[in-house]
Amino acid sequence: MPGAYISPSILSGDFADLANDCQRILDLGADWLHVDIMDGHFVPNLTLGPPIVKSLRDHIPKGKAFLDCHLMVSNPLQWVPDMAAAGADQYTFHYEAAVEKTDEVIASIKEHGMKAGITIKPGTPVEVLDPYFSKVDLVLIMTVEPGFGGQKFMPEMMSKVKYIRERYPELNIEVDGGLTADNIDVATQAGANCIVAGTGVYKAESPRDAIVVLRNSVLK
Ligand code: DX5
Ligand code: ZN
Repeated sequence: MPGAYISPSILSGDFADLANDCQRILDLGADWLHVDIMDGHFVPNLTLGPPIVKSLRDHIPKGKAFLDCHLMVSNPLQWVPDMAAAGADQYTFHYEAAVEKTDEVIASIKEHGMKAGITIKPGTPVEVLDPYFSKVDLVLIMTVEPGFGGQKFMPEMMSKVKYIRERYPELNIEVDGGLTADNIDVATQAGANCIVAGTGVYKAESPRDAIVVLRNSVLK
C-alpha cells in the first residue's frame, strides 16, 4: 500500500481568509489541500478557479503545500494550462467529462508538469477506467454526487475501491465525500489511502484529532 495522504477539502474553509485558513489546516497535520473547482455546468455549483489557486500558491509556495485539485468541469482539457500556471500540483478530472479525450487530457496534464488524477461519479462503473489505471498517478472514487460538501457517504462505492486495489497495490486511490472519523475504516479497509474530508475535518470538535484518526485508519 502507498502512504497515507489526508486532504481536507477547502470548500469547507473560509474563502475570504483562504491563505491563513489553509495554513492553519496544514499546521494541524494535513498532507494535501483538496481544491474543489466547479464550473456551474458539469455540476450545479460554482466555487473557484485558477486565479484563486494562483493567489493561494503565492501565499503558500510549492513544496509547502500539495494542491490536490479536483476539476468538476465540462471541459477538463481547457483548464490544464491555466491550472499548471496557477501552481496546481495534481489535476484530477472527471472521466464523464472527457470520455474519448481521456488519453489527451492525461497527456496534457503530464506535459504541464502536474500529477494526473482521474475520477468517476457514483453512477459510473469502475471498469470504464481499465485502460487508464496504469497511466495515472491517482484514481478518485467519488462517494457522493459531486457538487456540494456535507453529503452522506455512500458505502456501496467501496466495491470500486476494492476492484482497483486488488489489481493495483501501489496506486494512489482517493475517496471524496462524506468521510468522517466514524466511517473512515470502511474506506481504508477497501484500500483507499488518500482521504478527502471537508465537513469531517473542518466541523470536527478537534480538526487535529480528526486528521490523526483518518491517517491512523489508513496506516492500520
Ligand atoms: C464534492 C466535493 C468534495 C466535498 C467534500 O463535490 O468534491 O470534495 O467538498 O466535502 P465533505 O467531506 O463535507 O463531503
Ligand atoms: Zn472533491
